[in-house]
Amino acid sequence: MKEKTTVGVIGLGLGQAHLAGYLKDERTEVIGLADLDAGLVEDTALRHGVPHAFTDYRDLAALGPDLVSVCLPNFLHAPVTIDVLDAGAHVLCEKPMALNAGQARDMAFAARRNGRYLMIALNNRFRAETRILKKLIEQEVLGEIYYARTGWLRRSGIPGPGTWFTRKSQAGGGPLIDLGVHMIDLTRWLMGNPRPVSVVGATYSRLSDSVEGVFDVEDLGAAFIRFEGDATLVAETSWASHVPSEGSYVKLMGTRGGAEITGNDLTVYTDLHGEQVNITPAYAPREWSECVAAEIAHFVDCIQAGRTPMSTGEQGVEIMQILDGIYESAAGNRMVHID
Ligand SMILES: NC(=O)c1ccc[n+]([C@@H]2O[C@H](COP(=O)([O-])OP(=O)(O)OC[C@H]3O[C@@H](n4cnc5c(N)ncnc54)[C@H](O)[C@@H]3O)[C@@H](O)[C@H]2O)c1
Repeated sequence: MKEKTTVGVIGLGLGQAHLAGYLKDERTEVIGLADLDAGLVEDTALRHGVPHAFTDYRDLAALGPDLVSVCLPNFLHAPVTIDVLDAGAHVLCEKPMALNAGQARDMAFAARRNGRYLMIALNNRFRAETRILKKLIEQEVLGEIYYARTGWLRRSGIPGPGTWFTRKSQAGGGPLIDLGVHMIDLTRWLMGNPRPVSVVGATYSRLSDSVEGVFDVEDLGAAFIRFEGDATLVAETSWASHVPSEGSYVKLMGTRGGAEITGNDLTVYTDLHGEQVNITPAYAPREWSECVAAEIAHFVDCIQAGRTPMSTGEQGVEIMQILDGIYESAAGNRMVHID
């Protein structure tokens, strides 16, 4: 039997879901946790029988785990991931990869320099319906996908108002970087990760005046993204907007068929024997925590087999280039080219 992959988790907000995923995976052994909140990290370690609890993540990295999850506020992703890679661990870093593409490039470079894997936690790729659609696309059921639309709109869902989430310097932005990163990545992945070449973006902050504390990010953002070849993607996201309720969607238009995911529902539109048909695959949707567990199982598979994981640092850099471009376009009211 293979030796267990030893694991550390840094940041115990969302990091609790990573911890649960590792505890469920018999191939891993969680050897340490880190969080600035001493009570939280000690309680969590005690509750799950994890031998080491630290308030300084560098002490966890010094234990020499094989794999570390970085589940910290966005502004800490780059410096902590680079430190942990330099200490010799593989890293699963939460989304968004970083505050901007420059930081993301440094992270991808640190992974290569150290010969370690860096995977970005874009867990929507692990939903049941998105995996089925990806398989159908790989079988060319949609043909060439030339146009796509995606969005995640909340009526009222500003995360952590007044905390790091709503500060540009610590979050990098609002719903575009928080929710849009998931939907843009998911759609681009379904399209085969085409290279972005230009974007036009717009951002608004019309419904967040009453938020207490610092709020210097958008509450709604939209973009038109052009890829190499001529495929295009329209994206929209909000933390606050006058819509009926929270919802997300992906719509793909291809030469042989189209597909739509609304919430967890997948429908494929195509022609069969000259007739238009709507296909609804049968599957059990996964809970969010199951998607995180599946993402973790995939990364552990890759580490144990010496195989590059999906959702690489390099793909993460391109997503950050798109997001940087959207913000730059919105600020300058012009189209931005992506090199
Ligand atoms: N993939 C998803 O679906 C998903 C969902 C929610 C959040 N996230 C991402 O996860 C990350 C964390 O979000 P969150 O909601 O858990 O935030 P949070 O603020 O609730 O929790 C962050 C934790 O990190 C700890 N922390 C802060 N600075 C630290 C430091 N220097 N060293 C050690 N610990 C430190 C805090 O004490 C806190 O416990 C963000 O990047 C967010 O975008 C992803």
